[in-house]
Amino acid sequence: MNQEYFDKVKEVKVSDEKPKELKDQNFFTIAEERRSVRHYDPNFKISKEEVQEILETAILAPSSSNLQPWRFLVIEEQELKEQLFPIANNQQQIVDASVVIAVLGDTKAFKNAEKIYGALVENGAMTEDIKNFYVNQINDHYGNLSKEGASQVAMIDGGIVSQQLMLAAKAKGYDTVPMGGFDPKQFVEKFNVPENHEPVMLISLGKGTKAGFEKTRLSLNEVTTWNKY
Ligand SMILES: Cc1cc2nc3c(=O)[nH]c(=O)nc-3n(C[C@H](O)[C@H](O)[C@H](O)COP(=O)(O)O)c2cc1C
Repeated sequence: MNQEYFDKVKEVKVSDEKPKELKDQNFFTIAEERRSVRHYDPNFKISKEEVQEILETAILAPSSSNLQPWRFLVIEEQELKEQLFPIANNQQQIVDASVVIAVLGDTKAFKNAEKIYGALVENGAMTEDIKNFYVNQINDHYGNLSKEGASQVAMIDGGIVSQQLMLAAKAKGYDTVPMGGFDPKQFVEKFNVPENHEPVMLISLGKGTKAGFEKTRLSLNEVTTWNKY
């Protein structure tokens, strides 16, 4: 997508109303009211504790073999957000939201298998033998994946954790917008992203000042088939 694509969003009609304040934290209300919000109060600063609480909920998400390949880079310094701005197609939410969370996927996350499965031995959920079985299988499978295969796993798990993050933020009264509109190469260089950490998406997080667009969706019938194509 080019710069014009990202600029065009400014011409789309959005209501001047603020994002809806949630009256409850009912899951269905949160799912309905979460929207991609692109206008933020630049003076509002979310606390580090609240960002951490949101991330703590996000990391309860499921992942392939429970390897939890997600890694988060929380960008809160204004100067750094300004450096990110041109890399992310000058999208205003990059500079105005309280923080931008870069969700990354570690393509070598399988190296934590011993630690993750060892914890299950310690809490009595499995024997040392079963743990060794799993760790060997994981090393064998994930360790031999092609670059594309490893990347796909990181992207799938990174997508799942991202959605959980956005719903957790909404439940706490904050707004978000996921962004794929950035140059991953430039991002990796500028932010010194470690090897094997692939950018999944950027998420602006803060206090929205204008609601996102009205929800429009294809009908369920158009996207669902039962039993067989
Ligand atoms: C992977 C991904 C990448 C996206 N990239 C951008 C982006 O770069 N800029 C933007 O303004 N919105 C971006 N969006 C938001 C979508 O436009 C938005 O989710 C969609 O229009 C549905 O609206 P809703 O999130 O308000 O329900 C992205 C969404 C996803 C899931």
